[in-house]
Amino acid sequence: MKPSKPAAKAAPAKIGATVTGADNMPEIREGQTVALLQELHILTRDGKMNQDSRRKLKQVYHLYQFIEPLLKEVLAEKDSVSLVDHGAGKSYLGFIIYDLFFKALNDNSHIYGIETREELVARSQELAKQFKFPGMSFLPLSVAESTESKLLPDQIDVVTALHACNTATDDAIHFALKKKAKYMVLVPCCQAEVATVLKKNKGKSLAKSALTEIWRHPIHTREFGSQITNVLRCLQLEAHGYHVNVTELVGWEHSMKNELIIATYKNLPRQRPSERLQEVLETLGLEEMGNRFFTEQVAKQ
Ligand SMILES: C[S@@+](CC[C@H](N)C(=O)[O-])C[C@H]1O[C@@H](n2cnc3c(N)ncnc32)[C@H](O)[C@@H]1O
Repeated sequence: MKPSKPAAKAAPAKIGATVTGADNMPEIREGQTVALLQELHILTRDGKMNQDSRRKLKQVYHLYQFIEPLLKEVLAEKDSVSLVDHGAGKSYLGFIIYDLFFKALNDNSHIYGIETREELVARSQELAKQFKFPGMSFLPLSVAESTESKLLPDQIDVVTALHACNTATDDAIHFALKKKAKYMVLVPCCQAEVATVLKKNKGKSLAKSALTEIWRHPIHTREFGSQITNVLRCLQLEAHGYHVNVTELVGWEHSMKNELIIATYKNLPRQRPSERLQEVLETLGLEEMGNRFFTEQVAKQ
């Protein structure tokens, strides 16, 4: 029997070729750039998708479903929209938002990706150039550095942070507060700082309180620390006049990392959430975290 010929290697899709009738792959949307999805390794060279990329895309779409209406809201009031994505990594989120929404805009709208790993920033810069996405910039900065950087405008409309590690989500909140962002879309990663302080202080003044049972065992310290961190973040946002909505991000493999926090600036009354935040800090022996979760009152001092 003749050996069968090796299958011909599929050619990569042409740059700019978009999906028109995506019936056989419902995950891919009308107008999406096929070659971009290939470069992001969401599609293989022969246009197929594996389990992992299917899950990644599902998560990004789920987020996009929340982000798209916010971008439209901004554009209903202004000529252009700016979005900063913190802890961008390979910038799946930024590229997919750009491809689905920003690409069609003919204005000064812009997406900035902030990421400390220079090789990821360089790769994203290359991709933006390759696909002629002029409204995308990537900066090799930490979130904290970007808050002071002159390379970013004084005001930003939408701030996203998808699994920005540890305290980078807190820094992203501080960035958004400083830039007077109208919207924040945050999916926090584990934050170890609060758990460390809980652990350090549990033998002190709070020792007699039965409440410390909630975080006595190390695994509980970690989980409770994560949860209380997000509670404090929400209170901090409310204490700065934001309306906060907390929901779930679908299909996430780590149960402690599936919280989606969407904050909308509404200039709401700040006093009550600010007092509640201080009370939670005091109740749990976390007073030293007051700088991290500063409220307007503290910031003004
Ligand atoms: C878990 S990855 C998430 C990447 C991307 N957002 C996603 O969901 O695919 C976290 C990224 O945040 C970056 N990072 C961590 N701390 C950071 C900081 N303080 N400032 C900027 N980037 C940071 C890491 O280098 C990493 O690429």
